[in-house]
Amino acid sequence: MVLAVKEINTFYGLSHILFGVSLEVRQSETVCILGRNGVGKTTTLRSIMGLAPPRSGSIKFKGEEIRGKQPFDIYRLGIGLVPEDRIIFPDLTVHENLEIAVKKGERRGSMEGWTIEKVQRLFPILKARDKQWGGTLSGGEQQMLTIARTLMGNPRLLLLDEPSEGLAPLVVKAIEEQILLLKKEGMTILLSEQNSNLALKISDRGYILEKGLVAWQGAVSELKGDPEIMKNYLGL
Ligand SMILES: Nc1ncnc2c1ncn2[C@@H]1O[C@H](COP(=O)(O)OP(=O)(O)OP(=O)(O)O)[C@@H](O)[C@H]1O
Ligand SMILES: [Mg+2]
Repeated sequence: MVLAVKEINTFYGLSHILFGVSLEVRQSETVCILGRNGVGKTTTLRSIMGLAPPRSGSIKFKGEEIRGKQPFDIYRLGIGLVPEDRIIFPDLTVHENLEIAVKKGERRGSMEGWTIEKVQRLFPILKARDKQWGGTLSGGEQQMLTIARTLMGNPRLLLLDEPSEGLAPLVVKAIEEQILLLKKEGMTILLSEQNSNLALKISDRGYILEKGLVAWQGAVSELKGDPEIMKNYLGL
């Protein structure tokens, strides 16, 4: 088991957002968190990363309790979060954006260490844009750069928060193929999506959140065959 989240309760101030959320991600699995706007998908990923520390419950990463640890320590243990808002440095070139993410002398995980050349092979557009300022990239290119930078930290578990949000269908298709390549390499992925098309295509299993609770969980193949659930929880 790579990740085991058990009964976490997360608050923003006095607002109780997650109510006993539990989920698991196994080695080399792609798992999605689905649900409408505001149900707690981002909060779940931020809870795992230590950015919105849960008040109770347990989060084990490769068997080790990480609830209560600082985000940077969680990152060092091997979890990489690609946030909704695609953080890149607009005044650095694409190359510099990647360079600053290099962890010197560190290699871990099942995959070979990520290098700039290797992320450029996965995202050829980043090579074409190498000398351009980060701020000149399109939304899709920024998303790819953010994923690439996170990979440079050699994560064992990749958390992707709504990777397709706001992107044109062709760009979503490209990102879908890139995530599938990562999956093929054995990467373990937990992603959140409101628009479930992408998630249903690439995930093995899924969890549907409804107002901070896990309302459904199961294999994606099962979900696809159940229009009732899709309609009730996802509005499809
Ligand atoms: N920083 C914050 N302070 C207070 N409340 C917050 C904060 N961030 C999110 N919330 C609230 O927590 C709830 C869950 O938000 P969250 O962002 O986790 O939902 P989401 O499922 O990711 O939604 P979306 O699909 O819009 O990204 C919402 O009611 C939201 O208004
Ligand atoms: Mg969100």
